[in-house]
Formats: sequence, C-alpha cells, structure tokens
Amino acid sequence: MSDPIRVLQYGLGPIGRAMARHVASRENLVLVGAVEIDPAKVGADLGTVIDLPEPLEIPVSGSLEEALAHASADAVLHTTQSYFPSFSPQILEILDAGLDVVSTSEELSFPWLSHPAEAGAIHAAAVRAGKTVLGTGVNPGFLMDTLPLALTALCQRVDRIEVTREMNASLRRGPFQMKIGSGLTVEAFEERMAQGRMGHVGLPESAGMIFDTLGKTLARFQTTVEPVVAGREIRTDHVTVSPGQVCGLKQIARADSPDGPFLTLTFIAALDHGTNEDTLRITGVPTLEVTLRGTNGDLATIAIAVNALFRVHGARPGLVTMRDLPLVARI
Ligand SMILES: NC(=O)c1ccc[n+]([C@@H]2O[C@H](COP(=O)([O-])OP(=O)(O)OC[C@H]3O[C@@H](n4cnc5c(N)ncnc54)[C@H](OP(=O)(O)O)[C@@H]3O)[C@@H](O)[C@H]2O)c1
Repeated sequence: MSDPIRVLQYGLGPIGRAMARHVASRENLVLVGAVEIDPAKVGADLGTVIDLPEPLEIPVSGSLEEALAHASADAVLHTTQSYFPSFSPQILEILDAGLDVVSTSEELSFPWLSHPAEAGAIHAAAVRAGKTVLGTGVNPGFLMDTLPLALTALCQRVDRIEVTREMNASLRRGPFQMKIGSGLTVEAFEERMAQGRMGHVGLPESAGMIFDTLGKTLARFQTTVEPVVAGREIRTDHVTVSPGQVCGLKQIARADSPDGPFLTLTFIAALDHGTNEDTLRITGVPTLEVTLRGTNGDLATIAIAVNALFRVHGARPGLVTMRDLPLVARI
C-alpha cells in the first residue's frame, strides 16, 4: 500500500470545511493543516472549525507559509474563489511551495478556450515545480462535461448534446443559494447579473471541454439567464424569500459548431424546486438519454475533488483537466 497523501485544506468556507471533514475520514489521506483568511477561523483548532468531535491540535493558519511551517504536505485541496484574477495567485503560491493542487475554482476546470494566457502561466509554473493542478467539481468538472463526453464513447456518430440540470437549491449550502439570487428583487438580480459576478460559473468551461475533446470548432457561444420568481414565502437556513422576490435562476448556454447548433446546457436552480435531476441526451447513432437522480452538488463536489486527488498526486506535471486523467473513481 502506498504512503498516505498529506493534505492541506486551503479555504474553509462550507465546501472547504466539509471537504476537510471528509479527508479526515478517508483512508490513505492525512489532514495536516488548513489555510484561511477569515480572522474568526485563523488560530482556532482545525478540528473544531470543521466540526469534528475532537480537536485535531492543529491551528488554522493565516497563510500557506505558516501552515507549511507547522507541517509538511504533499497536496492542497483548494476551495476559495471562482474567477481567475482572485484564485491565480493562490494556485501559483501553492505550486511554488512544491505541492499538487485539486481546486474547485470553476474557471480552472477547462481554461484553455476562455483564459489561455492565465492557464498557460499556471501550466508553466506547474511544469517548473514538477507538480499537477486540476480544477474539478460536480459542475463544471463532471455533469455537463466529463459525463457527456464519456457517454459519447458509446456512439458511432454524435449530432447534438443536451444536458439539463435541475436542482432544488434549498438542499444546497448558503453561498449557492446566494449566487442564484435568492431573496433579491428582480431589478437587483438583473443588475447583479449585468455586473457578471452572480449565477452559475462554468458553462463556457464545460462547452470548451466538450468542443475541444471532440475536435470541434466553437463558432458561436451564447448564454441567457432569467430569474425564477417565488409565488409564496420560502424559508431556508440561510435566506427568507418573499413572494415576488427571486428564488433561483434558469441559465442556458448554446454552443454552435460551423455546421449549426451542437450543444445546449441548461442550468435550473431554485429554492423548493420540485425536480432534482440531471438529464443528458446525445442525439446521434445511437441516440442516448440518461437521467441521473440523487446528485447533491455539494456532496458530489467534495467527493470528486477528494477522489481526484489520488489521480493528480503523481500525475504528469502541468495544468490538467478531467479529460486528461485516468478515470476518477471512489477508490
Ligand atoms: N466546480 C464545482 O462544481 C463547484 C462546486 C461547489 C463549489 N465550487 C466553488 O468552490 C469554492 C468554495 O465554495 P464555498 O461555497 O465554500 O465558497 P465560500 O463560502 O466563498 O468559501 C470560500 C472560503 O475561502 C476563504 N478564502 C477566500 N480567499 C482566501 C484566500 N486568499 N486564502 C485563504 N482563504 C480564502 C473565504 O474566506 P472569507 O469568507 O473570509 O472570504 C471562505 O471562507 C467557490 O469558488 C465555489 O464557487 C465549485
């Protein structure tokens, strides 16, 4: 049996805390520390911050340097921010410290079409360090890219791909309920969407991975978004929404090849939404349709990032994506 992978958790929001808890429960992984900027968590016992029954006797560090002064590590699980300008310096710092990285930053999942220069800089730093970087999660990272791509293996010809993801957002963490606009007026929702820092992040990345892997030219990419408005009061642990306020959104990306429409990705997330399933349809020879029930995006993101760690650690150096790795599974 190989040596356990020593893991540092970087970012202790709801995803990072639950991920660290999961690491602590897994064989062949050892949780050696954590980095966080929230002053309320820095210096506190990591076991207490992630709700373990016993303290771990490891303080949460305010910087990577400080965390590595306390303990050696092999890899980082990175769960802080979604957009390149915010997370890039963190990834570069981790690589400089000589560690592998699995990150849930959405724009890192397939950055080669939308952010080639920034992706190139991370790839070069990873190669220099001899380490591997992966961006993954439930979506982007799996449901709207890796999974439909895997299904095309059963097809002799692929004419179109459509993925529809419908979620009851009441079952998700607070930051997710916020990023779909819960509790905003329709006007405020539209303003925030126009500023470009709300809603699901990752549709261009999923489309990019599908087009690039299938060797297709992306001729046109278009997204639309509309609010879902509450017809009655909705209360969750994180927000109360009055009738007439926003309780979610419907976001659609359409990507065309030079021959016409090829890919449609539909993302519907709303509080108390009655449908909680993913439908993947591949039109071709043969035509396939798969409906997946039971995915919880938060649990799934934690699982896939941790499971991917076993593929990333020891993989070829550089910035890789899910389609570059051997099959990620619960090993
Ligand atoms: N790919 C996927 O499928 C997928 C799925 C789920 C989540 N995600 C992404 O994963 C990330 C984590 O999710 P979340 O809900 O836990 O987000 P969150 O609530 O925003 O938590 C992020 C945590 O990281 C901390 N942080 C921010 N910048 C930092 C820095 N420079 N150094 C150390 N810590 C820092 C934040 O501290 P402060 O609160 O003090 O800022 C916060 O505690 C988000 O970007 C989310 O969009 C991706």
